[in-house]
Amino acid sequence: MSQLTIERRHDDINLSADELWTGSPELREQQFAILRRERSVSWQTPMMTPTMKLMGLKPPPGYWAIVAHRDVSTVSRTTDVFASSVGGVMFEDLPPVMLDQAFLLSMDEPKHGKYRRTVSSVFTPKRLKTIQEQISNQARIVVDDIATCTGEIEFVSSVSERLPMWTISEMLGIPEEMREEIRYAANTIISWNDPDFLQGRDPITLMMTAIGTLQQRCFELIEARHRKPEDDLMSALIAAEVDGHRLDDNDIYNFFALLCAAGNDTTKQTTTHTVRALSQNPDQRDYLLADIDGRIDTAIEEFLRWASPVMNFRRTALREFEIGGVTIQPGEQAVMFYTSANRDESVFDAPNQFNITRKPNPHLAFGGGGPHYCLGAHVAKMQLKAVITELYRRLPDLTVVDEPEYLESNFINGIKRLHVRFTPERR
Ligand code: HEM
Repeated sequence: MSQLTIERRHDDINLSADELWTGSPELREQQFAILRRERSVSWQTPMMTPTMKLMGLKPPPGYWAIVAHRDVSTVSRTTDVFASSVGGVMFEDLPPVMLDQAFLLSMDEPKHGKYRRTVSSVFTPKRLKTIQEQISNQARIVVDDIATCTGEIEFVSSVSERLPMWTISEMLGIPEEMREEIRYAANTIISWNDPDFLQGRDPITLMMTAIGTLQQRCFELIEARHRKPEDDLMSALIAAEVDGHRLDDNDIYNFFALLCAAGNDTTKQTTTHTVRALSQNPDQRDYLLADIDGRIDTAIEEFLRWASPVMNFRRTALREFEIGGVTIQPGEQAVMFYTSANRDESVFDAPNQFNITRKPNPHLAFGGGGPHYCLGAHVAKMQLKAVITELYRRLPDLTVVDEPEYLESNFINGIKRLHVRFTPERR
């Protein structure tokens, strides 16, 4: 790959500015709207987070911001130009130990395809049916636990964050006594940059401790399943073989860590954003409730578009490529902003309106297409369907009572706390 030699002016709209990622989504959407309209691919001031400073990482000269729906799809699908295995896939640079956890996300073809086919082989129709039953059961218990309380709860801790790690634990076969420790470590991996979570603690130490915990517990579990296989995903991953390719214990750990990161905050945040949107749009909620079974599948696509919980992923160009009126040079980074693509007015009518009847709804919440398209999309939809259906069937007047507290993150569109009220079920 050639050295970067071209000097360019950074765009006046600075997508790396802290204030864009610490406040409400509306603020960044205003900036994205200008960029989509006026310069859909722009050269940006590089991101430099406190953690990057702490680690002594040197920022690149800049990056290309890809904000239009069509361009995000193009970058995502043109994998012979835009690589995932070079320089990381996250918006900001991360320590090497974290890049290892990215597993599939940071591989290119043909290696990616080989691993993806092997891990995918364990999601047989029979296993998906079991996962579906587990999720329905979990959603029912989560709602049981709040339904007869005082009728006022903090929604994120009481509902949204309970289901995702529970699903992952149960499908992998993580024993009961390990679950809390693994849940905490998994949450650390995704919240390690949030000052509220850090409370003055050193992010690197916290991250290393969390990774250590996940590794130790996962290897214990792998060893136990080698000795005595069970009817769970962990045993299936150990036994999986596609075209002669098998996963070693390290691969299984990396996949486990990826599931803990990728399958956790994503569904959790979509659930919270959905409840807020349905509360702000009671006409939509009433429409859904009038035929929840018939309308939920279409509505889920809008929940995903609206929440866009994963806001971006990055690629690095391997060769010159023209897009959006600019020429990207080899070695330059391109950050795909799914959150902007999902508000693109050339694809979605009235994109800033939450509309659960929207159809078709070609949102890019699960990525812009291509080989890395979210492996957990099906499971995520099962979870959203189960939890939203269970909640609104039993607590139809569920209403948000205050403004959300947003997560400070340039990656996850997150709400940390949201208070809701509802008429409790009779005991
Ligand atoms: C609302 C929920 C979710 C959203 C919005 C979401 C979004 C995404 C996105 C944007 C990607 C990257 C796509 C790309 O680079 O083209 C991704 C990849 C991935 N997701 Fe999800 N995800 C969700 C839930 C889940 C769940 C529940 C799981 C697992 C149980 C999961 C597992 C994965 C894995 C393993 C990958 C890597 C795929 C690869 O690189 O081949 N995700 N997801």
